[in-house]
Amino acid sequence: MRTELTAGLLAAQASTSPKFLYDALGSKLFEAICELPEYYPTRTEAAIFDTHLYDMARAIGKGSTLIDLGAGNCAKAARMFPLLQPLQYVPVDISVDFLRSAVDGLRQQFPQIRMTGIGMDFSAEMALPAAVRRDKRLFFYPGSSIGNFTPEAAADMLDRMRAACQGDGGLLIGVDLVKDKAVLDAAYDDGLGVTAAFNLNLLRHLNALLGADFDVRDWRHVAFYNEAASRIEMHLEARSDVTVRWTDGERRFGRGERIHTENSYKYTRQGFLQLLERAGFGAIRTWTDEKGWFLVCHARAM
Ligand code: AVI
Repeated sequence: MRTELTAGLLAAQASTSPKFLYDALGSKLFEAICELPEYYPTRTEAAIFDTHLYDMARAIGKGSTLIDLGAGNCAKAARMFPLLQPLQYVPVDISVDFLRSAVDGLRQQFPQIRMTGIGMDFSAEMALPAAVRRDKRLFFYPGSSIGNFTPEAAADMLDRMRAACQGDGGLLIGVDLVKDKAVLDAAYDDGLGVTAAFNLNLLRHLNALLGADFDVRDWRHVAFYNEAASRIEMHLEARSDVTVRWTDGERRFGRGERIHTENSYKYTRQGFLQLLERAGFGAIRTWTDEKGWFLVCHARAM
């Protein structure tokens, strides 16, 4: 982690992986973002699930091994338990403490489902322990988190998922679609400043991980839709010249210089289906909302 972070901070265009946005406070701030009126993806996806859950459950079938990638508070998967009746639930998240308390609560509510929480960075590899059943693996990857990877890295990850559920498995995934720039810009730069706090909190996380001395007041949140690249970009911009030190390094940032902290790619329906097919998924079913803002897909490993 230190090596990865230091290399990113010292690069000509400084950057950090979006996974570092999620320490315990970062996960809570992300939950708050999901409540914001400007942040449409969560409620749009939830409405798609509400409307089409029976249809989705029919396509998926009962008794799966439900592997929830980036499970967070596990709420999205838990809403599907009564219909999907999974035999095993495997929430996976990098933020282990947050996951642990969510799973403890769920165990009491659904004692019939075997639960195996895993603290893992699945963006690097899909190393599932032997305790995870091989049968009917259903990867559940909602919330358009796939958009936080470059299309190339997303293709690699989908390929790893397909390999891990080959045979009788599949994928249920949510992805955010291309739309009007003004809607996208507002979703990532909300009036209340919650997304700004989420982005700035990364610096506190870096202080803890690297022994760095970032002062959040020296930085400001910048987010915009880059139409040419079909992605939201989030950056932190130095308000004035500032030198940041950590245990074995330092860097001077000039006023206006940025650290690129996140991309959030937006797909067309066609583009995303091509990505799934190239990764070896087929028999794809899709569901969307009436504005066509968000897409949920179920696909089988071929
Ligand atoms: C988790 N991920 C899908 C969110 C997104 O929309 O890219 C993270 C986020 N960043 C800023 N707001 C929300």
